[in-house]
Amino acid sequence: MPVSGDKIRQRYDRLAPWFDSLEGFLEGLVFHRLRKKLWAKACGEHILEVGVGTGKNFSFYPDGARMTAIDFSPKMLEQAERKRERKQLAVHLDLMDVQSLDYADNCFDTVVASFVFCSVPRPRKGLKELYRVLKPGGQLLLLEHVLSSNKFMAKLMNLLNPVVVRLFGANINRQTVKNVQACPFRSIYIDPASSDMIKLIRAVK
Ligand SMILES: C[S@@+](CC[C@H](N)C(=O)[O-])C[C@H]1O[C@@H](n2cnc3c(N)ncnc32)[C@H](O)[C@@H]1O
Repeated sequence: MPVSGDKIRQRYDRLAPWFDSLEGFLEGLVFHRLRKKLWAKACGEHILEVGVGTGKNFSFYPDGARMTAIDFSPKMLEQAERKRERKQLAVHLDLMDVQSLDYADNCFDTVVASFVFCSVPRPRKGLKELYRVLKPGGQLLLLEHVLSSNKFMAKLMNLLNPVVVRLFGANINRQTVKNVQACPFRSIYIDPASSDMIKLIRAVK
C-alpha cells in the first residue's frame, strides 16, 4: 500500500535535525559536485526551489535572482530558516506541497529540485504543477535518484523499497525521467554526466 503524504511529512519532520549529518559522507563524495552542475543552469528573474529541505542548495543560488523555496515538512523548513539567517540570504520560504501550489500560472523562470521526486506521494501531479507555474520557455532542473536500468539491481531496489520508504520517506524505485516525459514539456534533456541511478534532467516548457 502506498505511504500517505502525511506519513512522508512526519518522516522528514523526524529526520530534520539529523538530515545534514546523515548525508554528510555522500554530500562530499558526489552530491556537492552534482548540485553545482545543476544550479549552474539556473537563470532568470524569479527562481523556485522545491523541497528545499535544510537548505543544502543555498550556497549554489545564483546572485541577483529573486528566490522562493518551498517544503511540505515544517521541521525541514525550520532548519532552512536557521540556515537562511546564518547565511544572511534573501530567500522567501513557504510551507507548501508541490502537488498543490498556491502560485499563479506562468510565474517562474526556473524551477529546481534535488532529490525530491523520490518522496512526493504523487510525482506526476507535482510535476504537472511545476509545468503550470513555469513561464513559457521556462525550465525545470532536476537532480534525482531513479530506478536502475539493470534488471537485477531494479529487482533488488523494488524489493527493498517498502523498507526504505518506511524508514526515510524516499522511494528508491521512482522512474522520474518517465514521469517528466509524461508532462507536455517542449524538450527534455538528460545530462550525459548522469549515472545509471542519478539523473540530471532539464525540461523546457
Ligand atoms: C531527500 S530531501 C532533499 C532536500 C533537499 N532538496 C536536498 O537536496 O538536500 C526531500 C525533501 O523534499 C520534501 N518534500 C517531499 N515531498 C514534498 C512535497 N510533496 N511538497 C514539498 N516538499 C516535499 C521533503 O520534506 C524533504 O525536505
